[in-house]
Amino acid sequence: MAFLQVEDIHKSFGQEEVLKGISFGLEKGEVLSIIGSSGGGKTTLLRSLNQLIIPDKGIIKVNDEIVFDASEGKLSESVLRDRRLHFGLVFQQFNLFPQYNVKRNLTLAAELLCKERGKAAGKSAEEIKKEIKQLDAKAYALLVKVGLENKITAYPGELSGGQQQRVAIARALMLSPDILCFDEPTSALDPELTGEVLKVIGSLKSSESTMVIVTHEMEFARKVSDKVIFMADGVIEEMGTPAEIFDDPKSAKLQNFLNKSQNLGIDDMESGFNAREWAKVAQDGEECLKDNELIRF
Ligand SMILES: Nc1ncnc2c1ncn2[C@@H]1O[C@H](COP(=O)(O)OP(=O)(O)OP(=O)(O)O)[C@@H](O)[C@H]1O
Ligand SMILES: [Mg+2]
Repeated sequence: MAFLQVEDIHKSFGQEEVLKGISFGLEKGEVLSIIGSSGGGKTTLLRSLNQLIIPDKGIIKVNDEIVFDASEGKLSESVLRDRRLHFGLVFQQFNLFPQYNVKRNLTLAAELLCKERGKAAGKSAEEIKKEIKQLDAKAYALLVKVGLENKITAYPGELSGGQQQRVAIARALMLSPDILCFDEPTSALDPELTGEVLKVIGSLKSSESTMVIVTHEMEFARKVSDKVIFMADGVIEEMGTPAEIFDDPKSAKLQNFLNKSQNLGIDDMESGFNAREWAKVAQDGEECLKDNELIRF
C-alpha cells in the first residue's frame, strides 16, 4: 500500500462532474506534479485531498490510515481537523495574516493546536507553556530553511511576493504535515521571484517530505518530480515519470497540451492574458478598494 493512497474520488458541482474517479498512489518522500489545462480539476483535486472540498465518493488513506471515506458520512469538527492536518497547503495567493508579523504567522496555528491537544491529553499548564516556547525555535529553524530568518519581525506587507510565499511555505511546515501540497505556488509572482520560490520547494525534497505540486512550470516539474499526472476534464489522462510524460507522451491530449505550452507559454493558453498580469490586475483592484475605504471612513 502506498503512503498516500487515493481511490476513486468523484466530485460534482451542480450538474458538472469535475472529478470523475481519480485514483493514484504516492510513496513517502516522492514528489508528484499535477499538470493540465485550465478547468481540468487540478485545484479541486488538491482541495479534496485537504478536505477543503468534501468529495462525493472515494477514499483517501495516508500511511494506511483512512483520512477520508465518503461512505462514513458527517464527522465531528475535531476529527475532520485532525484528518486535514495530514496535509499542508500552500496557495497561489500566499494568504498570510497581514496583521501579524512573520513569527506570529508561523506560530499562531501551532500554538492553538498545542494548547488544545495539551489540554485534551491532560498536560499541566507548565508543560503546555514549555511546548509553546519550543515552537519559537521551530519557527526560527524553518525560516532559516527558507532563507528568511532576518525577516522574523517583518510584516507581510513589508515583504516581496517571493518572500511572502516562502513564509507561507514555512508556515505550512510548522504543523509537520505528512504531505505538503502546492497550488500553482509561483503563478502570482514576477518571473524574477519565481526562481527563488522554486529553489526553496526543490530544497525541501527529501526522503521524509512527500509533496504534491500543481504547477504550470514544466521545466521545474521535470526536474523535481518522481511522478507526473496529466489531468484533463476531470480524469487522469496520463501518469508516469517525468521522462515518460514529457519525452514520450502517449495521448493526443497530452501531446497537444505540451505543444501548446511550449509554443505559447502555458499561462497565455486560455485567455491570451498572462496569469501574472491577471494577478497584477487583481492586486491593483484590491489597492483601489483600500483607497476607497480610506475615502469612505
Ligand atoms: N466551488 C465551485 N463551485 C462550482 N464550480 C466549481 C467550483 N470550483 C471549481 N469549479 C469548477 O470545476 C472545474 C474545475 O476547476 P478547477 O479549479 O479544479 O480547475 P483547475 O484545473 O485548477 O484550473 P486552473 O488551471 O485554471 O487553475 C471548473 O469548471 C470550475 O468552474
Ligand atoms: Mg487551479
